[in-house]
Amino acid sequence: MANDIFGLDIGRSFIKVVEVKISGKKKFLTAAANAPTPAGGIQTDAPLEMKKVSDAIKAVVKASGVKGNKCNVSIVESQVVTRLIQMPNLTDKELSSAINWEADQYIPLPLKDVNLQYKVVSKPIQGKSGKMDVLLVAAPKRVVEKYVKLVHDSDLQLSAIETESSSLARALAAPGDLPAVIVSLGAASCELVLVKEGNVLFTRSVSTGGYTLTRAVMAEFNMSQVQAEQYKHTYGLLANQLGGKVVNVLKPLLEVVVLEILKALEYSRSHLQGTVFSRIIICGGGAYLPGLSEYLTTRTSLEVSLGDPWGAFEKEGLVLKIPGQGSFYAAATGLALRS
Ligand SMILES: Nc1ncnc2c1ncn2[C@@H]1O[C@H](COP(=O)(O)OP(=O)(O)OP(=O)(O)O)[C@@H](O)[C@H]1O
Ligand SMILES: [Mg+2]
Repeated sequence: MANDIFGLDIGRSFIKVVEVKISGKKKFLTAAANAPTPAGGIQTDAPLEMKKVSDAIKAVVKASGVKGNKCNVSIVESQVVTRLIQMPNLTDKELSSAINWEADQYIPLPLKDVNLQYKVVSKPIQGKSGKMDVLLVAAPKRVVEKYVKLVHDSDLQLSAIETESSSLARALAAPGDLPAVIVSLGAASCELVLVKEGNVLFTRSVSTGGYTLTRAVMAEFNMSQVQAEQYKHTYGLLANQLGGKVVNVLKPLLEVVVLEILKALEYSRSHLQGTVFSRIIICGGGAYLPGLSEYLTTRTSLEVSLGDPWGAFEKEGLVLKIPGQGSFYAAATGLALRS
């Protein structure tokens, strides 16, 4: 079946478009393209800046060669509240009438101002007593409306809107895989997502991203942004490069991310008893930072791998032309895979 809905990830430094074709159990990559996000990006409310973003989206969609004009879009994780809660074992009908009252206690925003979604993550085994786990996701209406307008102004039709963590989980963690901590390093933030059986159990957005690292290199070596990006990409966390000067600038910043990963693992031990997270999947543009996997392995004692959502795709067409790029397109691929 051809998926006529493509994934559109409006990142704060790159806009990505991915289209897939699903035929039986086989998945093919049929389009993938990216373009820099105009300054201001999705953070802005200024109509002129938003117009630049929609123009950029139109251009990258056209260049990608996707067939349709329907897309799925993800919301920046830091704008969304995600909470795993425990509730008595209810029927679907009972849950739908109880959920608003329950959500009111956990969502730090007036419910009238948010789009609330929920998903039952686990239920007690039939015949046994116990509670069920429900994931609550609340997205402020004004944020959702901004994406709706942006997609409309880009001459596209919006099929679905979801959190970035859901897109990443779909792209990188299939049901049946071992539980994992997804660490997505973008430009403006880093997303941590605990995933089990394809379900998101916990998310945390850390405001350390690729920009933070680049700015620190610019300041330390008094160099331009372009040059600092090159330094970061070339030397990264490699201790034996440039007398360790770059790694010494970057490590303290990445320690913030490490501490949040350790806190997420601590949360899993206290709140998700019985689930052991033994691996980290890194993705996003920042995942290509040289030495990152080794550094995270040392600091967390977990196995670390580069997440490639295209790894299980048929080795035909575009996959061979752009090897290793799947990690950068993880969120967009998850959106494209949404059925
Ligand atoms: N080889 C590399 N080494 C280190 N960093 C890299 C490398 N390649 C790309 N990056 C960084 O990746 C970031 C862009 O990644 P990505 O496109 O995933 O971000 P984004 O989705 O636009 O941002 P966000 O998710 O925060 O909105 C940039 O900060 C860039 O410097
Ligand atoms: Mg991103």
